[in-house]
Amino acid sequence: MIHVDRSEKIYIIISVTLISVFFIALGISSFVYGFQVPVPEQRVDPRTIATPAPDNPFGEPGLRELVPGKKYEAYVLAQIWSFTPREIRVPAGSTVTFYVTSKDVQHGFRINETNVNMQIVPGEVSKLTITFDEPREYDFICHEYCGVGHQSMAGKIIVEP
Ligand code: CUA
Repeated sequence: MIHVDRSEKIYIIISVTLISVFFIALGISSFVYGFQVPVPEQRVDPRTIATPAPDNPFGEPGLRELVPGKKYEAYVLAQIWSFTPREIRVPAGSTVTFYVTSKDVQHGFRINETNVNMQIVPGEVSKLTITFDEPREYDFICHEYCGVGHQSMAGKIIVEP
């Protein structure tokens, strides 16, 4: 049997305990709180992303209804220093998948008081899905510094009864 020093044993126990706590926290955040890692959904050309075309939903950003009252897609275009659209209205109980991209610099997209929080990189589409259960309003904001008008880059989601 190898001799392990008492203080070394303590450090091993602390390390293993910490790693276990981190794994449990990761499991709880993903399975209980529905934590999702935003992945680049698609590559796009930021120079032409705002151009209307039949195969380009960002040419006319906004809400698309998939199942009335239940399932929606929201295409949001970020630019200095605003989002298009600025306001999104959905009925309570609806599940909305957000597709967000930028036509200029890097932005952020965070819906306050939810776990929707994405980096918006020009050339990539970021995607996250969320269900709005209660009628209320949410602010969405740009949370990556993008220039002098950064602090005014925001919008609203209105969940209607
Ligand atoms: Cu866009 Cu900060």
